[in-house]
Amino acid sequence: MKLLRVAVLASGTGTNLASILAATQNGTLSARVVLVVSNKVEAGALEIARNSNVPALHLSREQFESPEDLDQAFLCAFKEQNVELIALAGYLKKISSSIIREYKHRMLNIHPALLPSFGGKGMYGIKIHQAVLDYGCKVSGVTVHLVDEDYDSGIPILQRCVPVEQDDRPKTLAARVLEQEHKIYVEALQLFAENKIEIRGRQVVIN
Ligand code: GAR
Repeated sequence: MKLLRVAVLASGTGTNLASILAATQNGTLSARVVLVVSNKVEAGALEIARNSNVPALHLSREQFESPEDLDQAFLCAFKEQNVELIALAGYLKKISSSIIREYKHRMLNIHPALLPSFGGKGMYGIKIHQAVLDYGCKVSGVTVHLVDEDYDSGIPILQRCVPVEQDDRPKTLAARVLEQEHKIYVEALQLFAENKIEIRGRQVVIN
């Protein structure tokens, strides 16, 4: 089977990137990570990419005169590697409209909660799990969704529930959710690799 050419964008530790790379290596994901980009020079994700011989790029606003120049650098890097699908994995910068347009229905994000709850600007990482616990939720979960021009508002592709336990702290809940993230992101990417996803309005049909 032809391997889907994926770029992963990440700002942090990169455990989702690591699980995606592992799945490409053990054959559960028919894809190849052809590029990793981070806005943070010290991101663990860049280190993971280098250790796997994947091109690793640091791109951030300060390196460029204008936001448009930064967009061009992204688009050039994607073109150079013939990127077919972009996976955001803990990438904390907003993606510009021009890039979203270019990769319409071909850009995914993973969010560690059941959207549309606990999403939006400023909702990332441990803050999400704190908010879930503060609200008193009995379940939380994971959403893999398409990226559109607002924060966390794109069409959901896959969602999975995770129980909230009585003695949970943000860190323990985050760990339980992260375990599911590592599985569900690979599953969602495989659906794209097998060309099984059809978008009809806001509905996703899995063929
Ligand atoms: C993940 O939990 C991901 O869902 C979250 O950041 C973490 C990155 O972890 N993303 C967001 O909160 C986006 N709103 P990782 O670097 O270990 O993959």
